[in-house]
Amino acid sequence: MDHFIYRNGVLHAEDVALPDIAAAVGTPFYVYSEATFRRHFVLFDEALAGMDHMICFAMKANGNLAILKLMNNLGAGIDVVSGGEYAKARAAGVPGERIVFSGVGKTRAEISQTLQGGIRQFNVESEPELRRLSEIAMGLGLRAPVALRINPDVDARTHAKISTGKSENKFGIPISKARKVYAEAASLPGIEVIGVDLHIGSQLTDLAPFETAFEKIAALALALRDDGHNIRRLDLGGGLGIPYTHTNSAPPLPLEYGAVVRRTLGHLGCEIEIEPGRLIAGNAGLLVSSVIYMKEGEGRNFLIVDAAMNDLVRPAMYEAHHDIVPVLEPYPATPYAPIDIVGPVCETGDTFATQREMPPLGADELVAFRSAGAYGAVMSSEYNMRPLIPEVLVSQDQFAVIRPRPSFDEMINRDKVPEWL
Ligand code: LLP
Repeated sequence: MDHFIYRNGVLHAEDVALPDIAAAVGTPFYVYSEATFRRHFVLFDEALAGMDHMICFAMKANGNLAILKLMNNLGAGIDVVSGGEYAKARAAGVPGERIVFSGVGKTRAEISQTLQGGIRQFNVESEPELRRLSEIAMGLGLRAPVALRINPDVDARTHAKISTGKSENKFGIPISKARKVYAEAASLPGIEVIGVDLHIGSQLTDLAPFETAFEKIAALALALRDDGHNIRRLDLGGGLGIPYTHTNSAPPLPLEYGAVVRRTLGHLGCEIEIEPGRLIAGNAGLLVSSVIYMKEGEGRNFLIVDAAMNDLVRPAMYEAHHDIVPVLEPYPATPYAPIDIVGPVCETGDTFATQREMPPLGADELVAFRSAGAYGAVMSSEYNMRPLIPEVLVSQDQFAVIRPRPSFDEMINRDKVPEWL
């Protein structure tokens, strides 16, 4: 459930009518509902109730400073994957003890930065990374708290580009090698082994792959304890999918996911850590755009909108579906007809939807792309010299711009022309 609903025929974010935001900031823009963010966090919190747990929001899904502050206020931890994300989480006030550092290629600079700044846990993905981490930690007179990311060789049955838990993926340490690598970790002076980590993929719409992976991890944790390791924390990654359409079957709820966690891992008495991104942010955000033209082509019509693939790349990159709805609710008997919804960028890939059933829409009318709060703004670019679009946060009847649109001058002046030209 989200807080984007039609009221008196106008799509609202909580108590704010979207045309009011459009009038204030111009289109296109992202708009987020604070209540929806909160609700999604609470759903996970309730799903894991009774187990010692920490929800570390994967900020790669939405890294706006205001969103990080909101998450921090809720007591969330943050899952970061770069020195930049770490710096931003800290800037939002998140203490190092609540920041987990994931990722397959941490650099020396990132390791020293986060060790010195304070960190809850490194999720280590390879033996070379383990050795480098130990060396840098020793140099600083510290011990790095470590969970090894184990690749359980489970098919997450999601889009190939966001599946991470199969042996052919670049992620993690093969489960078959795990005991050997833990033995090495325990022997390294700069490493303190605290747990096991995994993440098998994103947008999972079935609990079975989680269950299989968690069972494998439970067995591994017991074997590691037998080997003498003090395994006290399990990081289960993120990945729970969200409904991208209002028509297809609903993915499992956090409560059902929590039941799987309890059933497969509850007996171990470990602290449970999860790293959800999409489920917290995805349906907490819309992308609002205006129609530039309705163009009649040969055999098909095109709705050209002012948002483009640089603002929301998911359809071009993953053939992802986003529901696109008119901001003014059509009258019940309005005839719908198929149309291609495209942006102005000079590539055929700049297509949001083909032959989508839409009501008639004309120039300047507003449309909203649903489920755009995760992997939307963060993946945007300035391709075609298009400014990054504003982000707006709504809380009940108030809204604030949480990232303004840059001016052309600001964009131009970031480039520097060498003196010889
Ligand atoms: N933890 C790790 C280690 C991850 O790699 C990811 C996502 C997450 C947590 C959060 O997963 P989530 O709960 O959001 O599924 N750009 C793609 C999604 C890439 C996901 C990458 N890793 C998209 O737009 O669908």
